[in-house]
Amino acid sequence: MPTASAAVRPAAVLILAAGEGKRMKSATPKVLHTLCGRSMLGHVVAAARELSPERLVVVVGHGREQVSAHLTAIDGSARPVVQEVQHGTGHAVRIAMEALGADGALDGTVVVTYGDTPLLTAGTLDALVTVHQGAGNAVTVLTANVPDPTGYGRIVREGGAVAEIVEQKDASPEQAMIREINSGVYAFDAKLLVEGLSRLTTANAQGEEYLTDVLGILGADGHRVGALTVADHHEILGANDRAQLAELRRVFNARLTGHWMREGVTIVDPATTWIDVQVELEPDVVVYPNTQLCGETRISAGAEVGPNCTLTRTVVGAGARVTNATTDGAEIGEDASVGPYTYLRPGTRLERRAKAGGFVEMKNAVIGEGSKVPHLSYVGDASIGAGCNIGAGTITANYDGVKKHRTEIGDHVFVGTNTVLIAPAKLADGTYVAAGSAIVQEVPAGALAVARGRQRNIPGWVGLRRPGTKAAEAALAAGRSAQVPEQVNTGGPLGEHADDSSGSSETIG
Ligand code: UD1
Ligand code: CA
Repeated sequence: MPTASAAVRPAAVLILAAGEGKRMKSATPKVLHTLCGRSMLGHVVAAARELSPERLVVVVGHGREQVSAHLTAIDGSARPVVQEVQHGTGHAVRIAMEALGADGALDGTVVVTYGDTPLLTAGTLDALVTVHQGAGNAVTVLTANVPDPTGYGRIVREGGAVAEIVEQKDASPEQAMIREINSGVYAFDAKLLVEGLSRLTTANAQGEEYLTDVLGILGADGHRVGALTVADHHEILGANDRAQLAELRRVFNARLTGHWMREGVTIVDPATTWIDVQVELEPDVVVYPNTQLCGETRISAGAEVGPNCTLTRTVVGAGARVTNATTDGAEIGEDASVGPYTYLRPGTRLERRAKAGGFVEMKNAVIGEGSKVPHLSYVGDASIGAGCNIGAGTITANYDGVKKHRTEIGDHVFVGTNTVLIAPAKLADGTYVAAGSAIVQEVPAGALAVARGRQRNIPGWVGLRRPGTKAAEAALAAGRSAQVPEQVNTGGPLGEHADDSSGSSETIG
């Protein structure tokens, strides 16, 4: 959701992310924990980028190798600056400003924010910068009125103006009552920031350099110290442990589902629908409960997804129907149908009106227009033309233990049930394959391939070899146990059976 900004682009955005995040109890650095399709840091970087800052710096410390590598992966032009030991937020900003100052003194606005506050929107950051620049402030702090201010720095106002920020541990009982808190997000004038940082001391309860003290210092010097209060205090929430992370995820997800519903998407149960920030949905998409839409998933108008689906990096065409399916890297065509209990893996493409039905797995496979793979099949490394009917239990045997091989199926091919297509395999246009076949040779256009043992009936065998059994009694009662003449299969060459009351062409012998 891009923002139209009235602000002058900041000289720099500094993201503080050197802290340890002990309470996550994790081998993964705190800011790399994810929600809604991105790391916490990724969300902050994305919001910061919308301000088009000249420089984007992330202060790293604990887990610096992992955090820096992740930063490079998500934003190649962001710069990690190492804070070896964490001596406080003021110290972190001082180190970042020193690193930037090495390229020449900064001029203009410097925004400071944290790597663990992923709900902060670009719109709010932009409003902060706009207010800051408009008022000609030395510093503008983003504040929030919260139900429980415990742990936060309190905003101490005198005659409405911000006089200072007092940390919880340094606060008097009266100050501790204040419910307007410091979010930790600020816009500074770059030169005055450097000036204020140079005068910080560690004379406080935590023996740290407090960035918050810069506000008191600049205010005492007679500079303008302003504040912007966020309307929704959720925006400034950080995650210190996994319970808080889950809460942030819920809030973020509610924001995303709310956005898409206002865009015309029906979400039957927003509480059990999880949408990543990269997802795009068109109007009149319907999402049924317990569905996760992950990564760059796009769903076109009128498609219905769910219940119980996980779609990752999947494209769903207009009018398609996907239910109880897990898909990753798949393309589902217009009016196609997937599910229930279907697994589509990377490289799968269903063309218009194609079907991948119950207990079907596909990988690296193209299923042509109107072709159906309705039941219990594996289709891998294959292309299937248009108008085909692939019988229940058909398997492409694509792997010989060393290499993968392809199966190519033309248009209007009919494959009988329980067939194994041993790749490399080729069924030309208009071929038929008899049920129960193991296909090892190319089938030329128009041919029927039958590749199975012939049926032999041994008359009277049950009465002779299993005398006295229920089966023998039944045979006797049928009056045919000894008399039936030897015969071949009474069914046709395809062994047709009809297990489908609709009698549709998808019931294959
Ligand atoms: C800080 C503020 C407090 C504010 C709160 C909002 C100060 C002195 N206090 O308190 O007023 O209400 O944030 O959450 O600034 N960090 C570093 N290097 C350091 C120290 C911290 O990079 O040396 C990073 C941390 O990783 C974290 C952020 O800065 O992302 C805030 O640090 P934290 O220790 O949580 O600050 P608080 O004590 O909560
Ligand atoms: Ca904190």
